[in-house]
Amino acid sequence: MIYNFILLATSIAAASIPAGFSFCSSDGIKDALPDVLGVQFDQNSISASIANATVGIPYCNVSLSYSHPGKNDIINLKYAFPSTTSFKNRYYSAGGGGYTLNQDPTGGLKYGAGSGATDAGYDAFHYSFDEQVLFGNGSINWDGIYMFGYQALGELTKIGKGITKNLYSMNDDKLYTYFEGCSDGGREGMSQAQVYGEEYDGIVSGAPAFRYAQQQVIHLFPAQVEKTLGYNPPPCELAKIVNATIDACDKLDGRVDGVISRSDLCMLQFDLDLIIGEPYYCAAQTSTSLGFGFGKRNEGSTTQITPEQNGTVSKEGVAVAKAINNGLFNSKGQRGYLSWQIGSSFSDAETTYNHTTDSWNYPIISLGGTFVAKFVELLNIDNITELPDSYEVLIDWMDIAYNRYLDSLQTTNPDLTKFQSHGGKLLHYHGENDPSVPAASSVHYWQSVRDIMYGNYTWDESLEQLNEWYQFYLIPGASHCAANDLQPGPYPKSNVEIIINWVENGIKPSGLNTVTTSGPFSGEEQNLCMWPDRPYWTSHNNFTCEFDQASYDSWTYTFDAFKVPIY
Ligand SMILES: *[C@@H]1O[C@H](CO)[C@@H](O)[C@H](O)[C@H]1NC(C)=O
Ligand SMILES: *[C@@H]1O[C@H](CO)[C@@H](O)[C@H](O)[C@H]1NC(C)=O
Ligand SMILES: *[C@@H]1O[C@H](CO)[C@@H](O)[C@H](O)[C@H]1NC(C)=O
Ligand SMILES: *[C@@H]1O[C@H](CO)[C@@H](O)[C@H](O)[C@H]1NC(C)=O
Ligand SMILES: *[C@@H]1O[C@H](CO)[C@@H](O)[C@H](O)[C@H]1NC(C)=O
Ligand SMILES: *[C@@H]1O[C@H](CO)[C@@H](O)[C@H](O)[C@H]1NC(C)=O
Ligand SMILES: *[C@@H]1O[C@H](CO)[C@@H](O)[C@H](O)[C@H]1NC(C)=O
Ligand SMILES: *[C@@H]1O[C@H](CO)[C@@H](O)[C@H](O)[C@H]1NC(C)=O
Ligand SMILES: *[C@@H]1O[C@H](CO)[C@@H](O)[C@H](O)[C@H]1NC(C)=O
Repeated sequence: MIYNFILLATSIAAASIPAGFSFCSSDGIKDALPDVLGVQFDQNSISASIANATVGIPYCNVSLSYSHPGKNDIINLKYAFPSTTSFKNRYYSAGGGGYTLNQDPTGGLKYGAGSGATDAGYDAFHYSFDEQVLFGNGSINWDGIYMFGYQALGELTKIGKGITKNLYSMNDDKLYTYFEGCSDGGREGMSQAQVYGEEYDGIVSGAPAFRYAQQQVIHLFPAQVEKTLGYNPPPCELAKIVNATIDACDKLDGRVDGVISRSDLCMLQFDLDLIIGEPYYCAAQTSTSLGFGFGKRNEGSTTQITPEQNGTVSKEGVAVAKAINNGLFNSKGQRGYLSWQIGSSFSDAETTYNHTTDSWNYPIISLGGTFVAKFVELLNIDNITELPDSYEVLIDWMDIAYNRYLDSLQTTNPDLTKFQSHGGKLLHYHGENDPSVPAASSVHYWQSVRDIMYGNYTWDESLEQLNEWYQFYLIPGASHCAANDLQPGPYPKSNVEIIINWVENGIKPSGLNTVTTSGPFSGEEQNLCMWPDRPYWTSHNNFTCEFDQASYDSWTYTFDAFKVPIY
């Protein structure tokens, strides 16, 4: 018995609170809860204990719930707080992807920041939003729409900042607040700049999947082109067109390195007709498609058997590629939406083989099909079963979703005055050959912000004003939130460090620091040109950043298929 007692005593001593975590108890957290308008904490929901992140940094693991006064909702939050010695006066939130919000609260630990994650009131820790957007046919979960759209993350930040300030007795010290995300996470970052601008000091937004109505429906457009033109190209044929485009346009930027650093010059100068007749070959395979890791349903991999593909690029195949590159128009020739930059993989056009009919079928891309079924048609089914008969229907779907979700999911309000005047800094980037969210979609938003906020300035003055707090970078050749297997080009490596330096040390970037990790220039660091300047290689290892009006114009769109301005 005595022996047991000693063991017990020893384990109590070992479990005593480590240095720097004296605040880490449910009472400690309770005492630190801030007053936030519209937030009512459930005092009995609070738990706090010291945990160990997978990164090996110990933290205070907190969970708690709140509701909106007068509503019977429950929103569950998780927070991770570093020890008082690791804390660096920072709060950080990360974005999710597809229809999924970030579920991991520990992302800020490596920056010495408190950080968190929210279940948004619809159990976002276990479900992606497309699974929760409808209560039933025709019945929209509007709270869910706003929570997913921006509100849940805004509240997470307000509450997280309040707790952080109190836990570390910050008094009047500045708590630097950051958001970082790509894809839907990029959209979420923009939503925070637009709606909660005064809460954030630095936002890193990559390839934002914003202009939600247009963005989700455009995923169906490549297949609509195939259906409309009556030609379903074998995937190998489109892959060959992409490869040949990269080969042809690589040099237009002044350097042969396997990367199209100027998709604008490629668009202006290269005629895809030149590829007609080129041979392609892809061996039969049991292919494992990785998908894009978007919504839950799209995650993981699917296995399918594709037959050998041996042929030559057809004029029909090139016609499909050209129509996709041109973007979506209605029958009056009015533009509905823009497209992916030339040289991007045609992932949303990838046909599948039907072994019964021995033919290729156009796909119905889940991100788009789910969106139309649930968010547009309001049917509680996973997918549409067939594509419509015309491009007009895609534009109608965009129009319906635009009007329905303008102030929730669209996320393109170009007035960032609150964010800017509070001193916020925005680092916005986009892979130039992103095959999922078109790079030009980001350019269009940058243009909208410039027009709305600095429309009465001269061009040069407006750039000067904008670059003080909002910088946008295209990443040559890069794919969706990642480097591109087909183009061994640069990719950012330290965006959070850059924004921290900008916010906390006043070091304004004059380019974006990147590194190339494959191909002939592996290891090369490039300080990318800030939009609207574009790179031109003057020698093997040097490029200039130049402004070229014709190139700029090729990135400029008016969506006249809609009667309202589309920002
Ligand atoms: C954090 O706390 C919650 C709630 O008590 C618990 O379920 C979870 O397992 C904890 N996480 C870690 C990493 O310890
Ligand atoms: C935390 O994890 C690290 C690495 O796995 C381990 O060495 C350390 O002992 C753990 N600390 C605690 C308190 O569990
Ligand atoms: C919802 O609509 C779909 C499509 O019309 C239909 O298949 C399904 O049965 C409906 N669900 C309910 C519960 O009515
Ligand atoms: C395209 O190029 C990649 C390498 O960059 C190669 O793996 C692939 O087989 C090529 N595809 C075709 C159809 O030529
Ligand atoms: C592809 O087809 C061409 C023409 O029929 C033939 O010459 C060539 O050998 C085939 N390639 C392969 C790898 O089978
Ligand atoms: C293949 O085609 C047949 C005949 O048109 C059709 O019944 C079947 O559903 C198709 N299979 C797939 C996987 O689309
Ligand atoms: C949507 O439907 C298409 C065609 O029927 C199918 O290929 C795709 O896998 C479906 N996606 C989902 C998420 O069900
Ligand atoms: C543009 O308009 C704003 C608001 O009306 C004003 O503050 C600003 O000084 C103007 N700038 C120029 C260059 O006229
Ligand atoms: C790169 O080019 C710029 C502009 O032509 C020039 O000013 C600079 O000195 C060059 N740098 C190197 C390392 O050659």
